[in-house]
Amino acid sequence: MKGKVRAWRGGLFTLLVLASGHGYADVAQEAQVIVHADRPGPVIHPEIYGQFAEQLGRGIYGGIWVGEHSSIPNIRGYRKDVVDALKAIKVPVIRWPGGCFADQYDWRDGIGPRDKRPVRMNASWGGEDSNQFGTHEFMDFAELIGAKTYVNINVGTGTPREMSQWIEYMTADGHSSLAQQRRANGRDKPWKLDYAGIGNEMWGCGGSMRPQFYADVYRQYATFVHAPSNAPVVRVASGANAGDVGWTDTVMSIAGSQIDAISLHDYTIPTGDWSHKGSATQFGEDEWMSTLQGALRMDDLIARHSAVMDKYDPKKRVALVVDEWGNWMDRDPGAGDAALYQQNSLRDALSAAVTLDIFQAHADRVRMANIAQMVNVLQAMILTDQSRMVLTPTYYVFDMYKVFQGATYLPVDVQAPVYRYGNVSVPGVHATAGRDAAGVVHVALVNLDPHHADTVRLTVLGVKGSAVQGRELTASEINAINTFDHPDRVRPVAFDGATFKHGVVTVVLPPKSVVVLDLH
Ligand code: AHR
Repeated sequence: MKGKVRAWRGGLFTLLVLASGHGYADVAQEAQVIVHADRPGPVIHPEIYGQFAEQLGRGIYGGIWVGEHSSIPNIRGYRKDVVDALKAIKVPVIRWPGGCFADQYDWRDGIGPRDKRPVRMNASWGGEDSNQFGTHEFMDFAELIGAKTYVNINVGTGTPREMSQWIEYMTADGHSSLAQQRRANGRDKPWKLDYAGIGNEMWGCGGSMRPQFYADVYRQYATFVHAPSNAPVVRVASGANAGDVGWTDTVMSIAGSQIDAISLHDYTIPTGDWSHKGSATQFGEDEWMSTLQGALRMDDLIARHSAVMDKYDPKKRVALVVDEWGNWMDRDPGAGDAALYQQNSLRDALSAAVTLDIFQAHADRVRMANIAQMVNVLQAMILTDQSRMVLTPTYYVFDMYKVFQGATYLPVDVQAPVYRYGNVSVPGVHATAGRDAAGVVHVALVNLDPHHADTVRLTVLGVKGSAVQGRELTASEINAINTFDHPDRVRPVAFDGATFKHGVVTVVLPPKSVVVLDLH
């Protein structure tokens, strides 16, 4: 990765007995983190903290949208508790309506009076879609929480004409019939469409295409993305599955000049076996390790795709957007028929943190990412059950990391002890840093080792600080979760383990924790 993470092997380490004030029964190891505020990097695009909301399971229906006549408190049909929680973490962009769902979606089903909208089968994920949540509901939702809009276009079963009419419906001012239809349906001003995805997973559920064929299809569609000249739309090509750099290579070589961004999808499956992915809550240290190892793999994936993109785009005009990422576990046994519903533990929090660290280290190329998904689906921010809502450990990482949105990336060098389990070893400490517009340096430290605390010597070059404060997220068990009855088992608290002396911050980093520090 761009910043360096070096693992120190066990023998080189001094083991220190920890200050009893922190109460760890175990011994601490030493790590060193150097933050190069003297060598500032690119801006960390806020969109790296983006989210994905697909029409499936209870993600939209019940999770975001309950309708204005619901007994659940709502703002024009959107759950008030969910809206407030999403506003609090400053969601920068939302991708919708899929995913695989996007390539079977007819946008005209989701406009006009709700009681007249057709019910369609959800061929990708089972069940039916009532179309109560359509274009108006999505665009208004994004506006309500202050997020940019990323609409994924239907290429698999759609046409360029349907796409261009949808875009005109959303963005046209003036008096065209489509603009008038939008007004008749209740929205006077055009919306701002920020990103348009040209198909989704075109190598798979989007149409089982080969990259040469898709690249030509992309060129055709991209030609007809017409938006007002003062409100341009970023065109996102459907990118590769994980390590398939051949896809990126072919699509970039044929269509690169018309591409503004290309996507990458990567999920971590703890067992590595799609037929038995592993439980979100009942797991041991083997799957703790395999999940974190999966998250760390993102660094290599981005480096490889970015290197291929460099061949066609050395100035990095084209963004790499990781518009689906996260942990995919077995569906929760109590989820009923809610597709892709899984719990979320401290393990998800740590894997989210290291993934976000990696995105930031590649901020020159990675300019958007969308965790899968927002509510009640996969590695969700929020879980709901009827009127109840719970914030997940992953939500709290996004909350702690929101200080990095729009900050200037600061390269970090990390020397950390090895965390080893069985035959696998990874660097035990991960870190990222950024300086915000007010000049405050924020440093995130993640201790992947569930057994040992680390005494981290943190030096920030090029900045004279004198005060440090922070928050930490940890729990007593690796599989600790928040439930509707116990919503506060994993939540950030003020961190008192950092001291500033002679220009060096000494941090006692608890085992299995995420700490975000603000240095003034
Ligand atoms: O996020 C769930 C699904 O995973 C998406 O619909 C699809 O794009 C991916 O395979």
